[in-house]
This record gives sequence, structure tokens and C-alpha cells, in this order.
Amino acid sequence: MTLIIAIDGPAAAGKGTLSRRIAEEYGFHHLDTGLTYRATAKALLDAGLPLDDEAVAEKMAREVELAGLDRSVLSAHQIGEAASKIAVMPAVRRALVEAQRGFSRKEPGTVLDGRDIGTIVCPDAAVKLYVTASPEVRAKRRYDEIIAGGGSADYAAIFEDVKKRDERDMGRADSPLRPAADAHLLDTSEMSIEAAFQAAKMLIDAAL
Ligand code: C5P
Repeated sequence: MTLIIAIDGPAAAGKGTLSRRIAEEYGFHHLDTGLTYRATAKALLDAGLPLDDEAVAEKMAREVELAGLDRSVLSAHQIGEAASKIAVMPAVRRALVEAQRGFSRKEPGTVLDGRDIGTIVCPDAAVKLYVTASPEVRAKRRYDEIIAGGGSADYAAIFEDVKKRDERDMGRADSPLRPAADAHLLDTSEMSIEAAFQAAKMLIDAAL
């Protein structure tokens, strides 16, 4: 039987790093579901298609290939913004959720991270984590990442962006970001990723 680990939380809470660490530790397949929304958005932008036509966006969503999704070509700010706009569309979500559920059944186990994994995509996941951190800490992490990568960044603008993204993800009618009733909360505001990983490992080992 496939063991599914569902990891949800807002942008820049540390989900991605934590999910990759867990997948590596247990030899499980990992899917960053945010990339499926980003790939759909990028395909629309590249084709010069509108972001507000649900039927067009759904068609693009159905063409997204899960293999080979790469954050480095999907990380642009404009793609993230467009992704969170099309993510409010029920037909887009239905198409991507279907593909994500297919992925979740891979043997011997899977780690999926996103916003609605524990609530909608994999409600029967063996372990559900809700990873969060204060908006200030998340904005600071984003800022440090950009600076470390040699770029230039404006903390105030990033902070506003984090809050705007939270509002859109938590406020939408279809599959809003919220912890599943049976999710374990991990607040990484004052916790290193290593400490978060150790906490997650204890929960997963108990479910194995
Ligand atoms: O995680 P990431 O920032 O790459 O996700 C981009 C956008 O995709 C998010 O702001 C969110 O609106 C959407 N998303 C979603 N459901 C998921 C994963 C991402 O709605 N499971």
C-alpha cells in the first residue's frame, strides 16, 4: 500500500525544503503541486492567452506533464501571481487535482506539498502536516534567498506580496488554504528546517 504524506501551508513557510528532505529520507516520490499551477500559468502566458477564461485555462491544465516540472523555470514572480489567479478556477483545480491524485498513488510512497493536499487532494493521507510561519519570517526568508542568489530585493514589497498571496489562497471559495482537522501544525517561525524535519520524522515513523 502506498504511504501518502500531505504537506500544506502558505508560501515560503519551508514546505518545499521539508518535503524534499522527507522524500529523500524515505525514498518516496515528491510532487510540489504549486508547480502544476505555475506550469499552467506559464503555458497561458507564453501563448499570449487570457488568464480569466476558465475553459482555456482548464485545457492548458489538462496538458501539464507532471514529469519534469522544474521550479527554476517557473519561479518568476509574474508566474506565481498568474498561478494564484488561475488557482481560483474550479475547472482548473479539478483537472490538476486529478493528475495529483494519480501521482499520489505511486509505490512505495509519496510526499505532496501544496495548499489543499490534506483537505481535498489526499484526505486519506497517512500523515498530514500544516507548515506555517509568521508573514514577517516568511518574507525575510524570501528576501534572504534572493540576496543569497546574488539578486536585489525590497523587503517591504516582498512582505506585501506574501500577505496578498495569503489573502488570495485563504480567501478563495474553492479549496481555500486551511489546515485539515487531523493535520499536525508545525510553526517554523522560530524553528530551523532541520528541527522541523526531526519533528516530521517522528510523526511519520509512528505511522509506518
Ligand atoms: O507554492 P507556489 O507558490 O508555487 O504556488 C503557486 C500558487 O498556486 C499559490 O499561490 C496557490 O494559489 C496555488 N496553489 C494552489 N493549490 C496547491 C498549490 C498551489 O492553489 N495545492
